[in-house]
Amino acid sequence: MSSIIQNKIAPWNSILKSVIMKYKMESFRIPPMQLSTINHITQRPANRNVIFRGFVGGYKEQNFDLLDDEKLQECLKDLIQTSSIMLNSKLENDLLVISTDIRSNKVSQLKENPGCELCWWFPETGDQFRLSGNAYILPSPSINNNDFPFLMLSPYLNSSSISFDWEQERLKIWCNLLPEIRSSFIRPPPGQPIKNTDNNNNYLGKKLNAIGKDKNEKELIKNALENFALVIFKIDFVDRVQLNTEKRTTWEFREKEGNNEWTEVDVYP
Ligand SMILES: Cc1cc2nc3c(=O)[nH]c(=O)nc-3n(C[C@H](O)[C@H](O)[C@H](O)COP(=O)(O)O)c2cc1C
Repeated sequence: MSSIIQNKIAPWNSILKSVIMKYKMESFRIPPMQLSTINHITQRPANRNVIFRGFVGGYKEQNFDLLDDEKLQECLKDLIQTSSIMLNSKLENDLLVISTDIRSNKVSQLKENPGCELCWWFPETGDQFRLSGNAYILPSPSINNNDFPFLMLSPYLNSSSISFDWEQERLKIWCNLLPEIRSSFIRPPPGQPIKNTDNNNNYLGKKLNAIGKDKNEKELIKNALENFALVIFKIDFVDRVQLNTEKRTTWEFREKEGNNEWTEVDVYP
């Protein structure tokens, strides 16, 4: 059985969100996603766990934000050094977000080839989602971010996308990270061998606040933010398997005369 759906929001989006919401309501731990990229040197797939940080501009309930708007504003004001801040309006879209270190292998792999797949297994509901598409790196603006496809992605946000502040989105996720994850961005690069001489200064097992209280902490945060990046996923094919009911559905994206068109097909599992 196959059908064509024309809508700004993909038909798999509400299904995935309903699984996520079920996990939240039941206080189940949201599982990580497995991100596979192509290692252009070995020509083999490279796979690792990553944490879903929500949809671009998504609101607290659907994302994993720890802070409410007021606390977020305080954090952003300090980081951007401004007295007032207009938060991005809450958006509804299909662009998934993770955060990462620009020095990690996945970043160079995605820059070389943005093609990738996310595999996400929800054991409590028996759902597997495989989401494939392209992923784009949003680094600190102090680093050359000319490669990030701001214009290409803007139609996939929504009408308020013109004023969408991507740097605010990056900092929002920074403010919402756990302190032990933030400190990883001031360590030596991921994958670099540990030397004996690193011992006192490697920030392993340390925490880092979102904003600095003194000059030294502010400097550490500035350095960490240089390495902190978002990865934005533009998905064009989704395969969902419902293990408990032996159902499997695929959705394929096509852009046709300015419309987003998804073909939905029920297939054998
Ligand atoms: C449960 C779990 C969640 C993780 N989440 C992330 C993440 O959100 N972003 C990230 O860059 N690495 C994350 N990692 C670490 C990666 O799996 C990986 O080890 C690291 O990013 C280096 O990968 P790369 O060299 O292939 O880039 C996570 C690891 C685990 C076990």
